[in-house]
Amino acid sequence: MNEAVKAIIERSSCNQFKPEHLTKEEIDLIVRAGLNAPSGMNRQPQRLVVVQNPNMVKKLSAMNAAVMGRDGDPFYGAPNVIIVLVEKNGTCIPDGSLAMGNMLNAAYAMGLGARWINRAKEMFETDEGKALLKEWGLTGDLEGIGCCILGYPDMKLETKEKVPGRVFYVD
Ligand SMILES: Cc1cc2nc3c(=O)[nH]c(=O)nc-3n(C[C@H](O)[C@H](O)[C@H](O)COP(=O)(O)O)c2cc1C
Repeated sequence: MNEAVKAIIERSSCNQFKPEHLTKEEIDLIVRAGLNAPSGMNRQPQRLVVVQNPNMVKKLSAMNAAVMGRDGDPFYGAPNVIIVLVEKNGTCIPDGSLAMGNMLNAAYAMGLGARWINRAKEMFETDEGKALLKEWGLTGDLEGIGCCILGYPDMKLETKEKVPGRVFYVD
C-alpha cells in the first residue's frame, strides 16, 4: 500500500507522551503539512502558533481546563502544542479543521504522537486568550479551532475500530 495512504488509514491519537521536545525539523514538517491544507478559494486563513515553552504549555493547558471548569491537564503532559486559529471567513472552520487533520496525519506518518484538543475557540475568546494573541503578534478577527498536542508517544498507537455502515455506494 502507498505509505502516505497507509499512515492516513492507520492514524490514531496519542494520550501518553515522553517529556522530550520534538526537534525543530519535526515541528517544521508538521507545520508545513498544516499549511498545505486546502482552503476555500485558497484564502489560507489558518494561523498556527507553535508552543514548546513549558510554562506557556502549562498556561494553555490551564486555560483549556478552565473552559471545562475542571482541574487536571487536558494536554496529557504533551510538551509541544500547535494551536490552530483562523481568520474568520465563510469557510474558516473547515479550513482550520483540515489544517489540524493534515498535522495529525503527518505526525502519525512520522511515528510521532498527536491529538486534537478541543475548546480553542473558548480559550481565545477570554481576555487572557486575547492578550496572548496580541503578545504573539497575531492580529485580525481570529477564532480558535483546536490545539494539536504533540510529542514522542509513550504508548502503542492502535487504530480504533471503525463504525461500519457509514459508506453508501450509489449506482
Ligand atoms: C474535533 C475534535 C475534538 C477533539 N477533542 C478532544 C479533546 O478535547 N480531548 C481529547 O482527549 N481528545 C479529543 N479529540 C480526540 C478524539 O477523542 C479522538 O480522535 C477519537 O477518540 C478517535 O480516536 P483516534 O483519533 O485515535 O482515531 C478530539 C478529536 C476531534 C476530531
